[in-house]
Amino acid sequence: MKESIERIFAELASLKAATQKDVEEARVRLLGKKGEITALMEQFRCIAPELKREYGQKLNELKKAATAKIEELKEAAEAAAEASEPKEDLSMPGDAFPLGSRHPVSIVRAQIVDIFRKFGYDVAEGPEIEDDYHVFEALNFPPNHPAREMQDTFFVSTGHLNPLLLRTHTSSVQVRTMESQSLPIRVVCPGRVFRNEAISARAHCIFHQVEGLYIDKDVTFADLKQAILLFAREMFGADTQIRMRPSYFPFTEPSAEVDVSCNICKGKGCNICKGTGWLEIMGCGMVDPNVLKASGIDPEKYSGFAFGMGVERIAMLKWQVNDLRHYFENDMRFLQEFATATEV
Ligand code: DAH
Repeated sequence: MKESIERIFAELASLKAATQKDVEEARVRLLGKKGEITALMEQFRCIAPELKREYGQKLNELKKAATAKIEELKEAAEAAAEASEPKEDLSMPGDAFPLGSRHPVSIVRAQIVDIFRKFGYDVAEGPEIEDDYHVFEALNFPPNHPAREMQDTFFVSTGHLNPLLLRTHTSSVQVRTMESQSLPIRVVCPGRVFRNEAISARAHCIFHQVEGLYIDKDVTFADLKQAILLFAREMFGADTQIRMRPSYFPFTEPSAEVDVSCNICKGKGCNICKGTGWLEIMGCGMVDPNVLKASGIDPEKYSGFAFGMGVERIAMLKWQVNDLRHYFENDMRFLQEFATATEV
């Protein structure tokens, strides 16, 4: 037994194992269930009692030394294995984080506002929950006008003279601007509007408008026409033509509907313009004297024009989208088509 212990001690001193597999083999050979040191432990049980102390000590030392040696070799083999693993390839392309982009309605709203900013207009905003006075009364809507009815308007509170409602158009911001700002006034008012409509390819119960208002001395219909023409050319291209058709709005007199020449067929007639060569983009007119009076402006001294357009409608025409609902469903495949469409 003595020789065996000494032999194993000597062997431990020169034990080498290059790989993790070699280390494991050495461990099994020495310390495993059928290993050499385990076998010596077995033999130790049959040894003469007077020798037990000496051999017991030696055997424990041997086991400790073997365990420490195996541990040391294992660490070295692991480090070597790690060092020989292929290094990270720093020339590999990185993982791209998908970036969000602006919603097409936001892009077009910003384009409309930026065009009018260049013309010297300020931006004004007003509340989405409005009262009857600012949405209808001050805009010269007769008391029984159908737009006031439940089938058009979402009411928040009813039953009193000036009920609260979700604004059905951004024209209410005209009134608030006339009440609070000094003359002359030149503003565009972007915002959300709400109507009790069945959702379809052409209508939604929530959509966006940009309203415009210009009030000064001697403002004429010619100024209105020029402003709209310049806007249309900035928005749809330098060769765009406009035409105005007589229309009616309670808050403007005279009133008109504005069409732009179809930028797809260039006026020849296609399925987007339904063969007419023209696309309707907004309503407009000269601010009715009653509207000026309601907000304390003297119609003898001042005149003005106003216009209002649907942002989704402009976006549909600009990008030839034929179903309004695409703008509200937020299907990523649709939205991603506008990821680079940020130019004005
Ligand atoms: N408020 C109108 C609508 O929602 C749009 C509009 C038409 C606004 C003519 C105007 C205007 O300022 O002059 O349909």
